[in-house]
Amino acid sequence: MKHLHLPSILLADLQQVDRVILERLQSNAAVITVAGQHLLNSGGKRLRAALVLLAARLGTYQLERVLHAATTVEVIHAASLVHDDLVDEAERRRGVATVHSHWDHGVALMVGDYLFAVAAGEMALAPDPRIITYFSHAVMTICEGELSPVTHVTPIETALEQYYYKIGCKTAALFAAATKAGMTSGGGSQEQIDILGRFGYDLGLAFQIVDDILDFTGDEALLGKPAGSDLRQGTITLPLIYAVQAGGGEKLAAVIDSHDKAELDWAVAEVQRLGIDQSHADARKLVDRALRYLEIFPDSPTLQTIIDIAEFVLEREQ
Ligand code: IPE
Ligand code: IPE
Ligand code: MG
Ligand code: MG
Repeated sequence: MKHLHLPSILLADLQQVDRVILERLQSNAAVITVAGQHLLNSGGKRLRAALVLLAARLGTYQLERVLHAATTVEVIHAASLVHDDLVDEAERRRGVATVHSHWDHGVALMVGDYLFAVAAGEMALAPDPRIITYFSHAVMTICEGELSPVTHVTPIETALEQYYYKIGCKTAALFAAATKAGMTSGGGSQEQIDILGRFGYDLGLAFQIVDDILDFTGDEALLGKPAGSDLRQGTITLPLIYAVQAGGGEKLAAVIDSHDKAELDWAVAEVQRLGIDQSHADARKLVDRALRYLEIFPDSPTLQTIIDIAEFVLEREQ
């Protein structure tokens, strides 16, 4: 499956999430409204909101109870992207110019802050205070992850430990909060909430590994953001770590400090040749582990859609 086909009832509820997001973006500073709409209207897969809604559907589903958590997670995600693009100096996102490159750094800083505050207001409306705990913890963890560099390509144990710590913080923590907040909104037991949180966490790890693979193999037009930039910017990700181990050796490892275009082109090709299969195998293993957590839930169309999403995470091209 290359594209995600979601049931129409879920799509209708995701439209409600988009409606609430647009309502919340109104600001007295026109630039915040315009820049926020520029980012949020340009698309995004709304995968995290879908996970919130589906997790709630595993329990007792009432849209008005879960809408706040689903809106919160997409707004937190959008805020973290605005700030991530600032930190990564990225030019494009969701097929349009990033906020800091279209406006300037100050605007991106404030739009990100504004969105985090919108998210705080939204989660306060959620029906259970645990949801505030889950999301505030996730935001703290995302910041920690963004500030935890992977400094080593070798030895592989150190590299993997640093890499998995980083992606656990910057990506998986929000997926875990999404599934926990959804299950909480659906009135699940604490055991169900925690297990679904583990599912979300492992899925989030796999999601980021695939993002890091797509940075080497993906199509920029489909991705809506630049590809091939992690290595060129000196960012160590899983495909590079495995490519060094699979034969690239010291010569490849040393390229991380290089600014030479020919050397970097060679290194990107080497990572494409040597580092993708093992990275994909890691993502596969994580999705399999994630799926095993779902075994406590009886089979249902909702569960099947969650499984489809997990498979989509592995096969996605955007
Ligand atoms: C991008 O997330 C940031 C990562 C965690 C890799 P998505 O790929 O879900 O971004 P959108 O929301 O679809 O644009
Ligand atoms: C994910 O890392 C960013 C966040 C979780 C905020 P990346 O830097 O790889 O994400 P992209 O590639 O810019 O979307
Ligand atoms: Mg980035
Ligand atoms: Mg990336």
